[in-house]
Amino acid sequence: MNPVRNPFAPGAGTRPPELSGRVGLLEETSVAIGRAKLRRPAKSMIVVGLRGVGKTVLLNEFDHMARDAGCRTILIEAHEIKPLPDLLVPPLRHLLLELDRLGTLSEAVKRGLRVLKSFMGSVRLKYGEAEIALEIDPEVGAADSGDLEIDLPAVFQAVGQAAIDRGQTVVLLIDELQYLKQREMSALIMALHRINQDRLPILMFGAGLPQVLALAGKSKSYAERLFDFPRVGSLSGADAADAIRKPIEAEGERITAAALAALIAQTQGYPFYLQEWGYQAWQVARQSPIDVADIEAATVVSIRRLDESFFRVRFDRLTPREKDYVRAMASLPGSGPYRSGDVADALGLPVRTVGPVRNNLIAKGMIYAPAYGDTAFTVPLFELFLRRIMPPD
Ligand SMILES: Nc1ncnc2c1ncn2[C@@H]1O[C@H](COP(=O)(O)OP(=O)(O)OP(=O)(O)O)[C@@H](O)[C@H]1O
Ligand SMILES: [Mg+2]
Repeated sequence: MNPVRNPFAPGAGTRPPELSGRVGLLEETSVAIGRAKLRRPAKSMIVVGLRGVGKTVLLNEFDHMARDAGCRTILIEAHEIKPLPDLLVPPLRHLLLELDRLGTLSEAVKRGLRVLKSFMGSVRLKYGEAEIALEIDPEVGAADSGDLEIDLPAVFQAVGQAAIDRGQTVVLLIDELQYLKQREMSALIMALHRINQDRLPILMFGAGLPQVLALAGKSKSYAERLFDFPRVGSLSGADAADAIRKPIEAEGERITAAALAALIAQTQGYPFYLQEWGYQAWQVARQSPIDVADIEAATVVSIRRLDESFFRVRFDRLTPREKDYVRAMASLPGSGPYRSGDVADALGLPVRTVGPVRNNLIAKGMIYAPAYGDTAFTVPLFELFLRRIMPPD
């Protein structure tokens, strides 16, 4: 089979050839964008899911949908160390300058620029390489209190008023939301709350790991009413089959039913693995249809590649104590979730003592708590990797 035409797309944020199993979510997003454009109340949304399930792909898709619908979009990725204002100010400045050029002088747009300028003065962008220029006098007393929970709503309000004055709808997309500090999340929620109350045309779509739920809930109890939190995860058997079969058939090739079933069993419908296995199966197959032997060969290659990069990189980011913790998880039978107490027992330590290590692993996105007292790996097959690299007792 021609490797040039291999349709599969293993990677981070790379659009899959078939965006399978997300029809309902795309539909809801399209409705929310449409409503925002009509100035009807529209709910912002935070997509919640583990690593590699397709959150970034969805945000990119939402970005396209919003732009196709004529909205202005801002797409940013929250960062472990960069403060939220540093990430927001440059694209907001860009947006306001664009709105400024859109027609004759608009007092609302000029005010937006002045408010942003005074916000910039008060947050002092710490990580910006060069000073970001904005040739306008600051609006003294607006968005410059130094308290993000007061200032960010003021900025959003001014931007929203500028947008409405120009007949524009703004869609803000933020990936990796779990990296926000509690104070930042709180300010963001309050800013969107203000937007909602004033019926201003700003909509937010976010994405994050499951801990984003606790972060949002702790920050503001009304977050649940302000946002929808759709969950995305591994695909059902039928959707996983579509994700593989449709791209192959679109290239005029075929895969046998048994091979498809074997591939789905190996990948457990996990979107990143579907792309990886699909890609390798296409590479190893000598001719169409792709058969079970091809999937077996693809599994060997895929596992080797995951061991060398995806699993290895994740493992190497851990401290020695964190490594001990995940090894202890993998020493237990099965693929999880594991009881946190059993993990502590395997380490020979009290649950309390290992709590901080467990929290760090959650913060790093390595493990999560599917239910109280349970601990599981955030990506399938990780326990098998750990068992492969663990010295035999
Ligand atoms: N619905 C889908 N069907 C098939 N493949 C998908 C689907 N969604 C995403 N993928 C594939 O899964 C892989 C991971 O996607 P993506 O990077 O968007 O995940 P993510 O949830 O953002 O991961 P992370 O949390 O690590 O950033 C990509 O190779 C992508 O092509
Ligand atoms: Mg992502």
